[in-house]
Amino acid sequence: MMEILKTLKGRDFLTLGDLSVEELGCLLDLAAEMKAGKVKLRCNNKVLGLLFYKASTRTRVSFEVAMYQLGGQVIDLNPNVTQVSRGEPLVDTARVLDRYLDVLAVRTFAQEDLQTFADYAKIPIINALSDRYHPCQAMADLLTIRECFGKFQDITVSYVGDGNNVANSLLLGCAMVGANVRIATPPNYEPAADVVEKAKALAFGKSEVMLTHDPVAAVKDAQVVYTDVWASMGQEEEARSRIPLFQPYQVNEKLLSHADSQAIVLHCLPAHRGEEITNEVIEGAQSRVWEQAENRMHVQKALLACLLGAE
Ligand code: CP
Ligand code: NVA
Repeated sequence: MMEILKTLKGRDFLTLGDLSVEELGCLLDLAAEMKAGKVKLRCNNKVLGLLFYKASTRTRVSFEVAMYQLGGQVIDLNPNVTQVSRGEPLVDTARVLDRYLDVLAVRTFAQEDLQTFADYAKIPIINALSDRYHPCQAMADLLTIRECFGKFQDITVSYVGDGNNVANSLLLGCAMVGANVRIATPPNYEPAADVVEKAKALAFGKSEVMLTHDPVAAVKDAQVVYTDVWASMGQEEEARSRIPLFQPYQVNEKLLSHADSQAIVLHCLPAHRGEEITNEVIEGAQSRVWEQAENRMHVQKALLACLLGAE
């Protein structure tokens, strides 16, 4: 497992697809070991930059705490007080930051911007959320699922709602680890078609990938019921008009009653109670959203340790 510290050193993490199936498994194992205090790694004096063009609580704080716990430092590169908001080209910013930092996490709109950073900076670039993917979230989701069930095989993960960044990464992640994955969205809100194809190819002969517009069919006998906001950051103007369209996809007690009786409920947070999830469900006995949020820190600590080649 510790081999992963060598194989990931210096690499970028823009999508789960940047990892092999084996590497993802090793990363999850390392995160679990670090969480349990069985493995202690140091990244003394290494510096992580955070360049976030969108709001964040979990990702920002969990990356900061993870880096501090590894013995490193963090610099907040608030776009509003750096030259990036005044139009300095990304290709220039990337090459300059490369000279100061050891690793850079970017939260942005376009996945292409992450690729630009990766192309122009030699240091590892981490996707801290884009409109297309949220790979750090998916790793935390997978760790939480494995903690709850001890395995991925024969576990069915049902995501109900908008086929967004979180859904894309969850779909890919489940296919990689061999969990069954079902995604229920309103028509025209499916996950990205190429991600679906990739997930189907990864899952082929191992697990099920199902897309549907029927939320009940999706959650039937599932072990994990997952949802996210109906309108993501950058889609605020559509939020109101989406409500009636997405209402049948609300994760409420009635929908949850179709899942396995031992099913857990996940949400990447922040949640909009009364929209994609009810207060009863998120506060209910089946909710594991706080454990899931905690796991952001554990998986990102393992990721940082690997990308930085910690000792
Ligand atoms: N789940 C997640 O990424 O939360 P933040 O937007 O608070 O970082
Ligand atoms: N889909 C949401 C996730 C937030 C963590 C968004 O992009 O706003």
